[in-house]
Amino acid sequence: MIIKEDFCLAPFNTFGIEALAYELSIITSINELKELYVAGELSKKLLILSKGSNILLTGHFKGLVLLNQIWGKEIAKEDDNHVYLNVSSGEFWPSLVEYTVDNGWGGLENLTDIPGKMGAAPIQNIGAYGAELRDVFVSLEAFDLTNGKLVTFNKEECEFDYRTSIFKSKFKNRYFITSVLIKLTKSPIINLSYKPLADAFKDRNIEEVTISDVSKKVAEIRESKLPNPDKLKNAGSFFKNPIIEMDKYHDLKLEYDNIPSYALKNSTYKIPAAWLIEQCGWKGKRVGNVGVHEKQALVIVKYDTATGFQILDLANSVKKSVFDKFGIDLEFEVNVV
Ligand code: EPU
Repeated sequence: MIIKEDFCLAPFNTFGIEALAYELSIITSINELKELYVAGELSKKLLILSKGSNILLTGHFKGLVLLNQIWGKEIAKEDDNHVYLNVSSGEFWPSLVEYTVDNGWGGLENLTDIPGKMGAAPIQNIGAYGAELRDVFVSLEAFDLTNGKLVTFNKEECEFDYRTSIFKSKFKNRYFITSVLIKLTKSPIINLSYKPLADAFKDRNIEEVTISDVSKKVAEIRESKLPNPDKLKNAGSFFKNPIIEMDKYHDLKLEYDNIPSYALKNSTYKIPAAWLIEQCGWKGKRVGNVGVHEKQALVIVKYDTATGFQILDLANSVKKSVFDKFGIDLEFEVNVV
């Protein structure tokens, strides 16, 4: 159990914010978590950090950061049709997807190249291009930071929903997820439910499309729309797509005939936040060293040195514009710390 002091977190958040952790411990095993628990260290203010691809640090973290570096993956079970993979929470998501695609196991290909680690994936039920983590999720193992015990959560207990789970609500900051069990298929079903993906394969015979083709296409689409955090600092979608009631939707539709929407269950509608933001004139706009991405208005980017507060200011200005124009209160997808 080594605790480092005044540790710079810049390499561990994709916005590259130069905040310090007053204390930091690198976690490579469950045993290390247990040692910290026994030593009373886990009663401090805690922050679990993996890749830091969905976080905005607004200042130094005056507590103990647990840096997740628990690696490893193994086949837990296998039958004629499925492979159950047990993946440690510190595994890098894009490498995991690549590994499954290379093995011909279907399920993760639509989620290619989402920056982040396995442990963060269930917390916000990561999703893209017509798929979500919950589609392949079986269960997870988590370390209860309040009592030092290991607990298993099945799918139902995780309460997955659009970009959320019980680990973002009731159990926020209570558990350190240590591993996740996912179920992949040996006879992949190609998922082209995301329209631009279907369009990309429209000239191909669907029977011939492989998960490797899908994975490559998803990577291409991502590359064309989303900034690579290695080149331009960002944390992906800064906002969630809002879900509105039918009455509100009809009112908006009268005023904005071209408003894009997806009808959901319970007579609600999901509206692309990017569209709302773009209508407010923010797309491609730069304020000092931060801005709204020119190709995807959901993404806030940091061009040069900027503080977390400058990014937060811009996000709040965007939020206010959308509220003033459409009466819709955007929610941050990124965790502001
Ligand atoms: N749109 C605009 N302006 C833009 C971008 C998009 O008006 O600048 C409108 C268009 O009408 C477009 C629609 O928004 O058809 C949807 O755009 P897109 O397909 O790019 O998806 P999104 O809803 O903006 C979500 C996820 C992304 C994910 C994509 C693809 C959220 C918050 N974001 O974005 O996730 O890659 O779908 O599945 O749900 C992330 O989580 O970091 C992320 C990038």
